[in-house]
Amino acid sequence: MFEDKIVLTGVKPTGHPHLANYLGAIKPAIAMGKQAKQHNMFIADYHAINAVKDPAVLQQGIKEIACIYLACGLDTDKSIFYRQSDIPEIPEITTILYAYTPKGLMNKSHAYKASVDKNREAGKPDDDGINMGLYTYPTLMAADILAFDTDVVPVGKDQVQHVEIARDIAGAINAHYNKPLLKQPEFSVEENIALIPGLDGRKMSKSYGNVIPLFAEPKELKKLVFAIQTDSRPMEEPKDPEGILVYQIYKAVASVAKQQEMAEGLKQGKLGYGHIKNMLLDAILEETKESREKYEYYMSHFSEVEGLLENGAAKARPLARRTLERLKDAVFGR
Ligand code: ADP
Ligand code: TRP
Repeated sequence: MFEDKIVLTGVKPTGHPHLANYLGAIKPAIAMGKQAKQHNMFIADYHAINAVKDPAVLQQGIKEIACIYLACGLDTDKSIFYRQSDIPEIPEITTILYAYTPKGLMNKSHAYKASVDKNREAGKPDDDGINMGLYTYPTLMAADILAFDTDVVPVGKDQVQHVEIARDIAGAINAHYNKPLLKQPEFSVEENIALIPGLDGRKMSKSYGNVIPLFAEPKELKKLVFAIQTDSRPMEEPKDPEGILVYQIYKAVASVAKQQEMAEGLKQGKLGYGHIKNMLLDAILEETKESREKYEYYMSHFSEVEGLLENGAAKARPLARRTLERLKDAVFGR
């Protein structure tokens, strides 16, 4: 489906990803990278500085996310893997895009509007604590995308609007110069990835504090899995698996055969909550075993990762430069 497409995936290095991030975003992005004609996979560190002001925290975030993608199987021969801040052409392109970005478009952006809403709820002035980086976030994101003639951007639902803004800005520039200077990207939302619930049954999300960190230590993992909500029905009582949270999470990680085994056990009253929690624990450990080992390797051999990121930047920069020169030629009439 993506064999003839340039696909671009961006990820903010803020916080250790959780199991649902892995299953819902990281794993599919890596798989898509293997199919695409070209795949750009980058760490959006300029986006992160709007919120993260402590350099040590930022570095740790970048390091973790880089190691996680590599550990989970990103193939750097196929995917161009880089840090946004290593590509100075991106902020240069952003500056040109600003001149074609209506301020009203930024006013409507979700990230900005959500911050304003939060301020209003707290009785603070609308723009309290909002910096220009956050306000103009979608223009930088448009440059990330447009710099590489991207065809498709796989995103979660919350990012769809940002890809649409990139399309709008590219469309405005193309219309103004009456030539196809910038490729208008499509977004792709993976509809059939089920929403994975967290420990309390709501969507697993860092904002709810109900997550299972992707590489939690086995002891910590056990504690979390055993904290998943259950009820006081006895084991012998036949249960509908779909109504049981542990089973819902299990479905996202276990093979079909294993899922059936748990479902049958619950229906027949042969498996208690302790059993199914241990089954879930084993499934998570199995799903993440190899990548956890690789993750630990990369974290303790970060100079190798650094080398890969530098290689990626060396591949990405000429591509972004091509776009930048094309834009400058048009804008300045060179
Ligand atoms: P969070 O809700 O923890 O802040 P993000 O919004 O940063 O997570 O999510 C990043 C990506 O991870 C999303 O675009 C989505 O693809 C995936 N994701 C997040 N939470 C879930 C979930 N509960 N189930 C499935 N996928 C998820
Ligand atoms: N805004 C994205 C997020 O919060 C991260 C991101 C930055 C991105 N630039 C991008 C995603 C370009 C896709 C394409 O998750």
